[in-house]
Amino acid sequence: MCGIVGFAMEENVTEHLIKGLEKLEYRGYDSAGIAVEKDGEISAVKTAGRISALKEKLKYENVSSHVGIAHTRWATHGEPNEKNAHPILSENKKIAVVHNGIIENADEIKKELISMGVEFETDTDTEVISQLLMINYDGSLLSAVIKTVKKLKGAFAFAAVCSDSPGEIAAARYLSPLTAVKFNSGAGIASDISALGEYSDEFIYLDDSEIAVINSDEVKIYSFSGEEKEKTPQRADADLNSDGRDGYEHFMLKEIYEQPEAVKKTIDAYYKNGEINFGFDEKFIEKLKNSDRVYFTACGSAYHAGAAAELFFEKILKIPCRAVIASEMRYSFTPLDKKTLVIAISQSGETADTLASLKNAKESGCATLSIVNVKDSYIAKTGESVIYTRAGREIAVATTKGYTTQLTALYMLGIYLAKIKNSAPDKELGEYENELFSLADMIKSTVSLSGYISRRAPFTAFEKDVFFIGRGVDFTCALEGSLKLKEITYIHSECLPAGELKHGTISLIERGTKVFAVAMNKRLADKTANGINEIKARGAYVICFTTEKLRDKFPLADEVVILEETNEFFAPAVTAPALQLWAYYSARTKGCDIDKPKNLAKSVTVE
Ligand code: G6P
Repeated sequence: MCGIVGFAMEENVTEHLIKGLEKLEYRGYDSAGIAVEKDGEISAVKTAGRISALKEKLKYENVSSHVGIAHTRWATHGEPNEKNAHPILSENKKIAVVHNGIIENADEIKKELISMGVEFETDTDTEVISQLLMINYDGSLLSAVIKTVKKLKGAFAFAAVCSDSPGEIAAARYLSPLTAVKFNSGAGIASDISALGEYSDEFIYLDDSEIAVINSDEVKIYSFSGEEKEKTPQRADADLNSDGRDGYEHFMLKEIYEQPEAVKKTIDAYYKNGEINFGFDEKFIEKLKNSDRVYFTACGSAYHAGAAAELFFEKILKIPCRAVIASEMRYSFTPLDKKTLVIAISQSGETADTLASLKNAKESGCATLSIVNVKDSYIAKTGESVIYTRAGREIAVATTKGYTTQLTALYMLGIYLAKIKNSAPDKELGEYENELFSLADMIKSTVSLSGYISRRAPFTAFEKDVFFIGRGVDFTCALEGSLKLKEITYIHSECLPAGELKHGTISLIERGTKVFAVAMNKRLADKTANGINEIKARGAYVICFTTEKLRDKFPLADEVVILEETNEFFAPAVTAPALQLWAYYSARTKGCDIDKPKNLAKSVTVE
């Protein structure tokens, strides 16, 4: 989603700001802009569309300065046009603001300011911040920020420059990430440390209700009430400079290939001395033992991981388990109590809906557990306990290794819970555990089909509508395959349980309609075959993902992609990379912007 970067340096900051924005591109955005303070004036250059368009514009503008802020915006309030792109200026043009998050009481503040005679220019909620800073400015940008944050409700991280406070940037954080850094020739601020990675490997992570004021000599941190705070810079967990594509054409392809290693790392992290061990404390283990219901709450692919786990958990825990889309769960009447275990799944750890439904669960007294990839992210910190997946940094907007490592962590958690609850025979759990150790190799074997899939996927790249089907846990994997294809190729795709097609959707099947069938499940293979036969009778062209042993069950399939055989619950982890590759090579054939699909954001920090 939106990205903030700002620098105060001894040299001109323009190039640094653009470089910073480029590091934030992966989060998804639809407009961009920069503003600098120089000689008592603010100059801003903004554009709809990509950073390349902003760079083009900057060639014709003289925007050089020692202090500036920049932004990539993913539109929430108002169209993604030049006017609404950040930085947003105050009416007197002395203050410029870049902002992530949503100001929930923006309309209220706007009305109040209009009644005071302030004129608004944009459709953004951010403009209330720049106008409030203008009204509250009394010679100190810090005190203007302190007064302004008192009025704001919602989630925000913002940074501001003011032409009357030369050389400095003030920034504030509440429920939206912000990091500051001091380095030899200056200081910087950003919503995502990847924009600051080349300046230092130690960062000051702001907490909620903190303000940073930076100039080229120092970084100072204050509370919202204005007391100065001592904060020690911390070393970044990831190697921020190793986010290159390493020779791969796209981050997505690189990340697909990284899956065997990421899955192995996730297993190794929690498999100690022959036991699965998440390091939970005794109190939490007691709560897990007593839980009599499980909800998985998540969005997008993380929800699909939860949906896959739902079936596995029910099989071995023998209690009701349900995956619920977080944006629905947060407003549902789902009964939650202290015997309910709520598991929030999120790659980024920032997704607003997932965070909200996790918070609801916590307030209702449930046992709460986060499965997250990004260390110390909001969702990681909000759950009572956390399991970190070991996917490493994921740059492509469409998740791949994020999803398979979530599945891996969930498989391990299921086995662990069944053991402490004593809810399944040791023999059965032992078999799952053994298969866990083959998972990375099976995924490797799927990834090795890349060449084959690269030759087959172009065949479906220019379809308008396609369908995905599957049964049981295969259906959840089909959902993920369908989402992947939609996200990066813009092909309309619908996914149904194979047995449900005949209740309506089959009316859309015509001669040549492409249907992807995920058919890895031995137990349900005959049933899936029935679904395939029904659509073949209407002329569909079926591409079937199955195992060597099951292929004879699907003689009518037009194409068969053979994958390694595993138990029915782990099949999504083995199958998903094939579907990801199919989506990838289709998108590549069409020339789509694979790593940054239109309208999508890597982490969705707004509702
Ligand atoms: C966005 C991304 C999806 C992702 C979903 C949930 O929509 O584009 O790829 O699955 O958010 O993200 P999370 O970070 O919570 O896993």
